[in-house]
Amino acid sequence: MHHFAYQDGRLFAENVDIETLAIDIGTPFYVYSEATLRRHFRVFADAFADAEILVAYSVKANSNIAVLKTLASEGAGADVVSGGELQRALHAGIPPNKIVFSGVGKTRDEMRAALTADIYQFNVESEPELRALGDIAVSLSKTASIALRINPDVAAGGHEKISTGKAEDKFGVPWSQARALYSAAREMPGIAVKGVDVHIGSQIADLAPFEAAFKKVGSLITDLRADGNVIDRLDLGGGLGIPYGKGAAPPHPDAYAKMIKRVTAPLGVQLIFEPGRMIAGNAGILVSRVIYVKESEERRFLIIDAAMNDLIRPALYDAYHDIIPVTDRAGRECIYDVVGPICESSDRFAKARALPELEAGDLVALMSTGAYGAAQTSQYNSRPLVPEILVSGAQHAVIRTRPSFDEMIANEHTPDWLS
Ligand code: LLP
Repeated sequence: MHHFAYQDGRLFAENVDIETLAIDIGTPFYVYSEATLRRHFRVFADAFADAEILVAYSVKANSNIAVLKTLASEGAGADVVSGGELQRALHAGIPPNKIVFSGVGKTRDEMRAALTADIYQFNVESEPELRALGDIAVSLSKTASIALRINPDVAAGGHEKISTGKAEDKFGVPWSQARALYSAAREMPGIAVKGVDVHIGSQIADLAPFEAAFKKVGSLITDLRADGNVIDRLDLGGGLGIPYGKGAAPPHPDAYAKMIKRVTAPLGVQLIFEPGRMIAGNAGILVSRVIYVKESEERRFLIIDAAMNDLIRPALYDAYHDIIPVTDRAGRECIYDVVGPICESSDRFAKARALPELEAGDLVALMSTGAYGAAQTSQYNSRPLVPEILVSGAQHAVIRTRPSFDEMIANEHTPDWLS
């Protein structure tokens, strides 16, 4: 459920008319619906209303400060994977005791910053990382609360590039080493063992791989307790898929919650979640204008002013996004390849897509782009970073501006010998 819908044939974000925004802001731009962000957070949290949980929104999905502030006001924590994300979460007012720090390559500086901020938990992925964290904690006279991220060797995820729970993936502590590493961790100064962490991938559209992985870590918790560890937290990561308009509909959070409660109830642990896409994905759209319609013998190209630097998901993961006209139109359909202006063949949003007939100047919306859209943008081809707009009812605000040329080159410097 989201708040992008036609009113009298014109696409609105909540009560804001998209075409009017496009004239104001210029295209391309992202629009987010605050009501949708809030709704998704609540649907997720409410599904676990009777359990002890921390919902640590995965900042990587959409890290805009205004988005983080919206979620902070709902009581969200944060799952961060870099010093920059940690600073963003703190800046947005997310309390440190709701922040978990994930990632395979935390640097010592990042660990120092997170320990100084007194975050809730480090999800540690290897023995060298654990030793570094212990050393830094001791040097700061702090104790790092940790979970070890366990690789359960379960295949999942909407695309090979976003699957993380197989033994061959770089993520997590290998299953066979888990118990020994917990025993080592228990003896390390500066380290307090608190829980177990697992995250098997993203855009997972069925419950089976989740259930397989969660059962495995459940049995691990039993073994770890038998070994003398005190385990009172279980971080189940993110990964719940969203409907993208095509393919199997992923399970509703209620079904996901029901399965998890069934599997984890006997363990008596606090559950931590790191949802990203499920919160932000369907809360955003990318609005773009048709520059040209180009016809070749083989194909009809809809050349739009958004490109792979603005939304890389189709190029990187063959991702499908619905594309709809901003002005609803009946009549003839045409088959288009929808492409951007970048000089790469992979700068293509859709291949052989049936759309209402469109012409130069028309606006289109790429749907379900609130997660891993703006967060993965670049300035490739010296295209300015795409702006982001937040809508709340009938109000809107620019929450990331389009940089000017001077801003784009502000960090570039001409060496003396060239000036
Ligand atoms: N926790 C950890 C440790 C993660 O690595 C991720 C995502 C999440 C939570 C959030 O997962 P979500 O709930 O959003 O599925 N750029 C790709 C997705 C990469 C996901 C990376 N890790 C895409 O656009 O599909």
